[in-house]
Amino acid sequence: MSVLLQEDHGNGVRLLRLNRPDALNALNLPMRQALAEAFAALATDTSVRCVVLTGSAKAFAAGADVKLMAQASPMEMQRLNLHRYWRAIAEFPKPIIAAVNGFALGGGCELAMHADVIIAGEGAKFGQPEVKLGIMPGAGGTQRLLRLVGSKRALRLLLTGEMIGAQEAYLWGLVSQVVPDEEVLPTALGMAERIARFSTNAVAHIKETVLLGQDMPLDAALTLERRAFNMLFDTHDQREGMAAFLENRKPSFTGE
Ligand code: CAA
Repeated sequence: MSVLLQEDHGNGVRLLRLNRPDALNALNLPMRQALAEAFAALATDTSVRCVVLTGSAKAFAAGADVKLMAQASPMEMQRLNLHRYWRAIAEFPKPIIAAVNGFALGGGCELAMHADVIIAGEGAKFGQPEVKLGIMPGAGGTQRLLRLVGSKRALRLLLTGEMIGAQEAYLWGLVSQVVPDEEVLPTALGMAERIARFSTNAVAHIKETVLLGQDMPLDAALTLERRAFNMLFDTHDQREGMAAFLENRKPSFTGE
């Protein structure tokens, strides 16, 4: 059985499901490879407009597979070059929605933070417990978390290794929405379907502008926004979206 299952939900929505239930979806090499390959392929698959990434009821992912690195030397870690597997996810140009039930810890929390929207079940738990293993996060767990929740909250999680629940994660801004556990996947799929109906150009530019802009000085980020905004006036979908509004009908976006 594959460590990563793919389901086509139609209407431009693809579901990726982490599938190592016996190891709480810990990220081993095959899982990392499968994720990287899937995201690289979906990036250019025009039938896919939004991706939902999920795990099991007990765990989204309980982190890097500790067995993979327990005996590793620095050179072995360098040769493993785990960073290359993250790149396809970090650079994925279409929206990713993480549907999180259960544990999202260490690399699992980092994986969730790669998503653009995080829908969490009430029982979900988030944390960066690397400090308990004598290491630290290595895939954005210090930097993405810092930018999402601020240094005082990030350092509380990073220095203690303790977990927080979904409600706290929501109040901190780590999570987009909290729903009852059994509604996590339907909520994420429903949202993905709504996003997939919009103009792919508008959606891609919104994602890119937010992700690039957050690390720029405000003036440069606003220039980036203005350029992207102006460029969308060169699309069929802009004409269609505005015409449909004025004619009081539903728009039909083609991605052109
Ligand atoms: N790596 C490898 N195996 C893991 C794992 C991990 N990160 N997390 C869980 N598992 C395995 C357990 O070893 C166990 O396997 P066996 O049944 O063969 O013993 C199985 O999953 C079930 O786990 P538990 O019995 O521990 O389940 P639990 O409900 O008692 O506890 C838990 C759940 C609190 C999440 C606990 O499993 C845990 O603390 N896991 C480790 C979390 C962690 O430290 N993550 C960070 C890893 S380092 C990292 O992520 C850094 C990086 O990116 C570079």
